[in-house]
Amino acid sequence: MAKVKSKYVCQNCGYESAGYLGKCPDCGSWSSFVEEVSGDDARSVKTDLPDNNPPVKLSDIEMNTEIRIKTNISEFDRVLGGGIVQGSLILLAGDPGIGKSTILLQASGELCTVGKKVLYISAEESASQIKLRAERLGVKSDNLYIYSQTNFELIKKHIDEMKPDFVIIDSIQAIYTSLIQSSAGSVSQIRECCNSLMSISKTKNISVIVIGHVTKEGNIAGPKVLEHMVDTVIQFEGDKYKSYRILRSIKNRFGNTSEVGIFEMGVNGLVEILNPSQMFLKEYNQTQTPGSTIIVTNEGTRPLLVEIQALVGMTPYPAPRRVANGVDLSRVLQILAVLEKRIGLNLSKQDVYVNVIGGMDVNEPAADLGIALAIITCVRDVIADAQTAIVGEIGLSGEIRGVNHIEKRITEAQKLGFKRIIIPGANEVQGDFKEIEIIKVKRIIDAITKVVSR
Ligand code: TYD
Ligand code: MG
Repeated sequence: MAKVKSKYVCQNCGYESAGYLGKCPDCGSWSSFVEEVSGDDARSVKTDLPDNNPPVKLSDIEMNTEIRIKTNISEFDRVLGGGIVQGSLILLAGDPGIGKSTILLQASGELCTVGKKVLYISAEESASQIKLRAERLGVKSDNLYIYSQTNFELIKKHIDEMKPDFVIIDSIQAIYTSLIQSSAGSVSQIRECCNSLMSISKTKNISVIVIGHVTKEGNIAGPKVLEHMVDTVIQFEGDKYKSYRILRSIKNRFGNTSEVGIFEMGVNGLVEILNPSQMFLKEYNQTQTPGSTIIVTNEGTRPLLVEIQALVGMTPYPAPRRVANGVDLSRVLQILAVLEKRIGLNLSKQDVYVNVIGGMDVNEPAADLGIALAIITCVRDVIADAQTAIVGEIGLSGEIRGVNHIEKRITEAQKLGFKRIIIPGANEVQGDFKEIEIIKVKRIIDAITKVVSR
């Protein structure tokens, strides 16, 4: 009989210990240890493994051209780098209720229409619940199989029998393997199931998409190892109470990361938003007040125009407040320091709020100049020109630094009808832009006069 071994595993980070610990020495979380019993520890002592995969010279390796299958949901395909790579393991993470099951059911429907066989494992909902959702989404196909099951061995059996092209696991936290005695959703269950799914996808060339929930802290529930194991991690973000959702690629072994796809949740499921800049600027012209500017940010391979708003006012508190939504607070503090020192803006008694409209997160330095000008126009109570877009990073001496992909940003601003764009003096612009005036600035002070409404 196999020796039964027991260990205690931190449910937060996967740290293992022989005995129970109140606090995890690795991640510092409290009461996170759970006993896990494994019936088979033979794996770790095997030494005579068949060596059928010896080292090869790089030049001798034959390249398999990766086959990508498009779902026809272009935003979804783009985030994945141009479709789902055959035989890859993808993790789709997101808050409960954000629309993970919805998008994968829609994608399954589309895959079926191009003749692929899809097995949708629903470990959380019954088959009739899925049917109800499919009716709502207009998904009809004889190639789509729904299997409501939580036991991994049974799931595997059906994958082996059916040989589908795609398997969807909804969700990894709800399935369990009988090889391990801990409950579904525990670190070792997730790790074991994910490992087996990995080997299914690689050996049988089946693309597997796994849904993973996100914890209250915003991490993908379960161990970090889950992210390391899969080929691609995409995350669904956005406010459950607003209708749009942002799909973001966090890790991609087959493509670009930081790519975003934007969707809107409607009565008939998720609809792609093909022109997101237009959506983010929908209300811009009607609501323009001092303290608002338009920047061109670059998300993955796509430029996006978003509105930045700043509100500056006398503080009623002993220490002024600085609040940033959608941009990094430390970036805002740095910009404020530069403004105080380099252009003499006195903000020591002022509260400063900076907000990105539309719930977008802007994490690149190219937004600096737009943020600075939003703050300055608010302090001086002037309106920034509604036809001018802004890009540029601010250095500590108040200089404007060059940004990447400048042509793409200018093209996007021109496409949306902007008449002027303020860019860093250091940027060389290739190409001919006829409908937009390009204004180069070297210092913040130069940008101020250029942006004020004329
Ligand atoms: P769901 O895909 O079940 O979320 P998740 O799998 O990420 O937990 O969908 C979440 C929400 O979307 C749900 O509250 C209802 C809403 N919804 C719509 O608004 N329209 C639709 O067509 C569908 C299918 C869902
Ligand atoms: Mg779901």
